[in-house]
Amino acid sequence: MSAAARWRVRPGGSLAGTLTVPGDKSISHRSLMLGAIAEGETRITGFLNGEDCLSTARALGSLGVEIERRGETEVRVRGVGARGLEAPDAPLDMGNAGTAMRLFMGLLAPQRFNATLVGDASLMRRPMQRVVVPLAMMGAQIRTHDGRPPVEIHGTPHLRAIHYSLPVASAQVKSALLLAGLAAAGRTRITEPAPSRDHTERMLAAFGVRLEHEGRTVSLEGGQKLHATEVAVPADFSSAAFFIVAACLAASPSLTLTNVGINPTRTGLLELLRRMGADIRVYPRATPAGAEPVADLEIHRSALRGITVHEAEVPLSIDEFPVFFVAAAVASGETLVRGALELRVKESDRLAAMADGLGALGVEHQLLPDGLWIRGADALTGGTLDSRGDHRIAMAFAVAALRATQPIEILDVANVATSFPGFVATARAAGLGLEAL
Ligand code: S3P
Repeated sequence: MSAAARWRVRPGGSLAGTLTVPGDKSISHRSLMLGAIAEGETRITGFLNGEDCLSTARALGSLGVEIERRGETEVRVRGVGARGLEAPDAPLDMGNAGTAMRLFMGLLAPQRFNATLVGDASLMRRPMQRVVVPLAMMGAQIRTHDGRPPVEIHGTPHLRAIHYSLPVASAQVKSALLLAGLAAAGRTRITEPAPSRDHTERMLAAFGVRLEHEGRTVSLEGGQKLHATEVAVPADFSSAAFFIVAACLAASPSLTLTNVGINPTRTGLLELLRRMGADIRVYPRATPAGAEPVADLEIHRSALRGITVHEAEVPLSIDEFPVFFVAAAVASGETLVRGALELRVKESDRLAAMADGLGALGVEHQLLPDGLWIRGADALTGGTLDSRGDHRIAMAFAVAALRATQPIEILDVANVATSFPGFVATARAAGLGLEAL
């Protein structure tokens, strides 16, 4: 893990070998939370030891849940059952983790106690109203400050089920409502405008909860108990994404990523890159029934060409756009992404952050209200780029150096530890000329 404030990345180079990126962030958060409200002890392997998931673990500790670390990536959670969480003494600090804050809103709204959720400077700017609105329809009492944290939850044990149609595809909002729905009277139904990641639904089923799916609607009956289970967390596709693009740009002869989660609600980037001409081979691994699908990925250097990304494809690769824009910046021809307004409210405004950085690297582009147009360049210049404290912006620009003519310096990189502890060492082992300053 690097707590360094900035990186210098040598231009050019190539990647090769076999590597495994850390565990999936979304699945690690959920395994702790569901384990906490289950009956019995849940065993988690492949857990992501990133700052975001540690925020979730600490918050659950403050709610009276015993979480035991066994080695680097194995965790045991002693479930307290649906009604076993205890009032915290102080505000719960979610750090940089939007997923933690939004899912905790669903988990805590139906408790018999009050709780306040806070976070770092980035999280304190992010929109929470999208979760407050449907939870309030269920009877929850939650106060925000102009729709932003701190989030003050006045616990309301008697929530009622609703049928809610999400205005934007959001796995975090869907998951918060499913968690609240577990404690509500009646059947909670959630309809999505487009598919978003379904880790919560899959994991609830693994904990013994019955869910029904009908088209884009998922529903569950309140009052169901969760039963502890074993969760094997795959390597995070979103962390693998940096190396997938890096290998397309500069693999020699190829790069292999092992045990990567390939849940189809996460792997939109593979489809986008293949349309650009990428040679990516997927070798699925056998997994037990109910587990998330995993595969080894073999990526070959590929000449990429620009594409148009359709709005419905956006949620399936939502976290991969920073590095996708780097692929577009070195592809032949033009790339257009529209309908990606959500990128403006992530850990940073990712459209603006990428537009600024690509501009500094000499890439012709146009920042649109809901997307980005890019004309690929033969080579990128070097320069100093501001990651805006956003882990994925920092890692995306590290990959860009493979096609740069001068060194790239990336500022404000400490938050890479939220999702990818050990990125510097992994990137260097693969062949990136990355140095923490
Ligand atoms: C996540 C859902 C996505 C994603 C985030 C993790 C999750 O956010 O961007 O990094 O774990 O549910 P939205 O639900 O806001 O799309």
